Order: sequence, then C-alpha cells, then structure tokens
Amino acid sequence: MAKALASTSPEPLPVHRNLALDLVRVTEAAALASGAWMGRGDKNSADGAAVDAMRRVLQRMEMDGVVVIGEGEKDEAPMLYIGERLGTGDPPEVDIAVDPIDGTTLLSKGLLNAISTIALAGGRGSLYDAKHVSYMHKLAVGAEAAGSVNINDPVAANLQRIARAKRMRVSNLTVVILDRPRHEELIKEVRETGARIKLISDGDIAGALMTAIEGTGLDVLMGIGGAPEAVTAACALKCLGGEIQCKLYPKTDQERTRALEMGADFDQVLTIDDLVRSDDVFFAATGITDGEVLTGVKYHTNWAETESLVTRSRSGTVRRIQARHHWAYKQREWLGLPEG
Ligand code: FBP
Repeated sequence: MAKALASTSPEPLPVHRNLALDLVRVTEAAALASGAWMGRGDKNSADGAAVDAMRRVLQRMEMDGVVVIGEGEKDEAPMLYIGERLGTGDPPEVDIAVDPIDGTTLLSKGLLNAISTIALAGGRGSLYDAKHVSYMHKLAVGAEAAGSVNINDPVAANLQRIARAKRMRVSNLTVVILDRPRHEELIKEVRETGARIKLISDGDIAGALMTAIEGTGLDVLMGIGGAPEAVTAACALKCLGGEIQCKLYPKTDQERTRALEMGADFDQVLTIDDLVRSDDVFFAATGITDGEVLTGVKYHTNWAETESLVTRSRSGTVRRIQARHHWAYKQREWLGLPEG
C-alpha cells in the first residue's frame, strides 16, 4: 500500500512512509532486552543487551542508514558505532541517531525515566555531527513556548517569555535540570525567579521530551548535557513541534583546543534546524523504567508489556503504542536466541 502511494505521487516522498512504525519495534526490542537488567547494578550488561537487540532489528529495516549519533567511534564501540551502515541498503537514505538506553545509571539503579530512543532523518548529512564535543548547553521547550526563547538571554527573561507563551505565572513553571555541580549557578538563577525546579539525576532526552508532552507539568529543560543526546532530543522536538537551542560546551580544555582546531564555534547558537537538517524526521522511544513520559517494561510469565511513543515530523502524528509481546517469540525473533 505504502509503495503504491509513493510511486503514484507526483512528488515522491524522500522517505518511505512506513519507517515510523518500523522504528517502534527497534526501541521495543532494546527496552525488552535491557529492562531485565533493571536495578542489577550492571550498566555494561544492560547497555550490551540494548545495543545488540536494537541493532538486530535495525539491520532488517528497509533503508540505507548511517549511524551519526551512536555508541562512539568504531574503535570504542563494536556495534552501532558512528559511521556504521544499517538496514537492507535499499532507499531511502537516512541518518540515524541511536541511544539504546538514555539513562544507563537510572536503569542499573532501578530509577525513573530510563528510555530507549532512536531517530531517523531523511538524507545523508542531515544530523549534526556531535562527536567532537562532549556536551552542549541546552534550552528546550514544547510547542506552546516554541519561538519564545533565546539561549543567549538571561534565565529570567526566558522564563518570563515561556510563562507568557503558556499563559502561566513564572512561579508556576517547572524547569528540568540535570543535577550536576556545574549547574549550581543556573539553579540559583532559576530559584531567584520563583520558578520550580525538577532536578533529574540522568536522562536529559527524557527531560526534553517531558517539556513537549502534555500532562507532565514540566515546561522547560535548561543546562548542560550530552551533545549526542541534544541531537536526538532535537529530532523528537522537531516531530512534536517544540524547540531546542544549543551551544557547544567542551568537557576539558584539551577537548576545547581540539574542537577549535576542527573549526568548532562555541558562541554559535545551534537551532533545531542546525541539529536536524531535514523535514523528514522520525522518532521513537520506549520506556524501560517507569517515568513521566512512558511506562517501563513489565514482565509476566510468558509475555512482557511495553509503552512507546512514535512520531513523525511531516504529519506531526504522535502515537502511543502499548504492546504485549510474547516473550519466547521475541527472544527468538528479535534477540536472536535459538529455538527451544
Ligand atoms: P547515559 O545513559 O549514556 O549514561 O547518559 C545519561 C545522561 O544523563 C544523558 O541523558 C545526559 O545528556 C548525559 O548523561 C549527561 O552527562 P554527564 O553525566 O556527564 O553529566
């Protein structure tokens, strides 16, 4: 059906229209495989399980994909490394951003908001290459406040504008911030405005998602977090109609020097369109542990339940998908385990 529509269209869609729904199977697989490691204090095994399951499903997708945001450079990550080609090799060409587990520490401790995420963007070179700098300053909001923020402005000015856009008082806004010593000054500035704060110990992709999903009661993400996570969050927010602005932030002086040599500009504001240079964006996330946005994986004797969110920029459709997985089947089909 999708192929017939695409071939008769006067302007063929650059990206196969089924990709959004295929993607949810990718994050479901990663969540199912890694959820079993919840609270077991073993980040590496949890991550390994998620990466392996995610890659198996991705390899079967009808696409010509290249990992741009992945597990690291080839020499440090055997799978889902930056530059790895994934999919059947058939069109469409897509850039891929994977985060099999955002919040490996959260998962290993059984804490809230560990999620598995993936984003695809149509066209080669469409995702920002974030491998040269570890962190970015981030300012992310949902659709209601999109267009009202400027990362170069003082915290108070941004909160006033967000409040105005959302018809709220500043004191009723809630700001999501990673709980890190580097945010001491930011937290002080937010507190001076009277706004509320939700400190999260990890997981700022989920943090950005929270600002764009109705009912979480969270309005804006501020602070410095992982650069790869910024690109994935940008994909999600592009689909959800929100906004993210970022600025590169080096982890060390050495990283700053190296990045400057490679042409990095630490003053440049990276807009959502700099981070994702495509109008064909797909994003999926599945809850691993329970959280504000998604319920985590629940295991039963022969089956497991997942909750996912999947969205696509062209249509703006947001689907929540509750799935019941026959566990033995999934272990064979998705996780590559032998019959029996
Ligand atoms: P991992 O799941 O890879 O551990 O990342 C978790 C995370 O909290 C991200 O969501 C965030 O962007 C980044 O780490 C923050 O980095 P740091 O822990 O160095 O402050």
